[in-house]
Amino acid sequence: MISLIREHFETIRDVPVAVPQHPQELKDALRADLPETGEHFSRILADTREKVIPGLVQWNHPSFHGYFPTSASLPGVLAETVTAALNVNSMLWQTSPAASALEQVVLRWVARMADYPEDADGLLVTGASLANLYALTAARDQALDFDVREQGIAGPDVPTLRIYTSDQAHSSIEKAAITLGTGLANVIRVPSDELYRMRPDLLDEAIRRDLAAGFRPLAVVATVGTTAVGAADPLGPIADVCARHGVWLHVDAAYGGLYRIAPSLAGALESPAVGDSLVVNPQKSLFVPLDATALYCRRRGALANTFRLVPEYLRSTHEGDTYDFMDLSPQLGRGFRALKLWWVIRSFGRSGLASRLDHSLENADWLRRSASRHPDWSCPVSSDYPLVCLRYEPEVMCSDDRLSKVRIQEAVDELNARILRAVNASGTIFLSHAVIRDGYVLRFSIGNIRTSLGDVERAWDELNRIAKRELAEFLSEKTWTETA
Ligand SMILES: Cc1ncc(COP(=O)(O)O)c(C=O)c1O
Repeated sequence: MISLIREHFETIRDVPVAVPQHPQELKDALRADLPETGEHFSRILADTREKVIPGLVQWNHPSFHGYFPTSASLPGVLAETVTAALNVNSMLWQTSPAASALEQVVLRWVARMADYPEDADGLLVTGASLANLYALTAARDQALDFDVREQGIAGPDVPTLRIYTSDQAHSSIEKAAITLGTGLANVIRVPSDELYRMRPDLLDEAIRRDLAAGFRPLAVVATVGTTAVGAADPLGPIADVCARHGVWLHVDAAYGGLYRIAPSLAGALESPAVGDSLVVNPQKSLFVPLDATALYCRRRGALANTFRLVPEYLRSTHEGDTYDFMDLSPQLGRGFRALKLWWVIRSFGRSGLASRLDHSLENADWLRRSASRHPDWSCPVSSDYPLVCLRYEPEVMCSDDRLSKVRIQEAVDELNARILRAVNASGTIFLSHAVIRDGYVLRFSIGNIRTSLGDVERAWDELNRIAKRELAEFLSEKTWTETA
């Protein structure tokens, strides 16, 4: 098994990043009856190697640039293996003393890197979506002046709660509103400015209007590193608005929060310490394998106020500054996530992690410069982070004066969507997309620990080759003026 892991990393550069396979083919290859008796491990391993791994998208591949690359470093992978072997449940201090103590240690380290108070309440959770939900649940309970835990949020006297976030916020905020029962209609999408950052003046207006109409603000969610383009909302002015109206500020820094440690961004990013709660995702930026997300709340006791509920069988005694992590979220049984963070942070050190983040930023700068110099590509929006949004706008189409701007825009959107499909089918690069005000863009997200400048240069050449080929086919298939 260890040699399989080794082989995975040794050959990762030489295998396709993805091999498109028809879903039915894949299902047929894996279909099997429930095994009645145990099988030999070598067969299980062989099937994993032959039938499962080739059907995966290789997230550790240096040319995986889709979404936010959650690449795994070797110390993280090995720690995860040890964690599985130990099979510790970190629900109570008494069930996992060293795991709980270690969770406190790594939470302090991560808080320091994120520039959040190290004495804030915190815990490791399964992903930023759930962290956002937990923070907003605690915020909801603070926003209402009755005992929500006891009474629930039903009844004629319960005010309608509203969550404010930018029109660029991650969908998990809306999912939190669905789960909390506050409703999608009460997620107020505050417009963003030309750089896709939330406009604090419009946030202020929205809250004032709602207060006058009898709505109750639940929280404001600011994003540091938005999903589509990697924008960062202005935290200082947003915090001022929140303070003015007494509203909880949650900072979703899932992607951008830990880039603060990169030397080239020193001083360029606002501190998230103004947030009542914060989420950062070491699984997105610190080379820690899925899943590892840190949720913090500097309103001490607020998470426990919402989630602490101890049935008799879980009652335990506490000495000194110990507590049970089950008190800070709805989750009881919890894996020992702290070990992989401890191994990764100790293996690289803060400076080692910082220089790797800087390396991704340099590679992204190179790509932005190359695209900006190219007559057929544009970078409609920049980012502090290594996320490059590219749009292929070939002159031959954009300068065609037979068509309106809108029709050209539609055709260019279609061409870019087609390039994405072709790129991901090629097995050489993996990208994802976003639709922003400038239209359909290809998101080229750099952050894999194994990606070198050479990899990015090769990926850029390949992207150009595929884009040119798709353009030629697009223009030849039907007259593109009809397509538009
Ligand atoms: C800004 C932001 N918040 C939250 C999330 C959700 O993260 P997770 O996949 O860890 O639930 C994402 C995912 O990309 C994101 O970009």
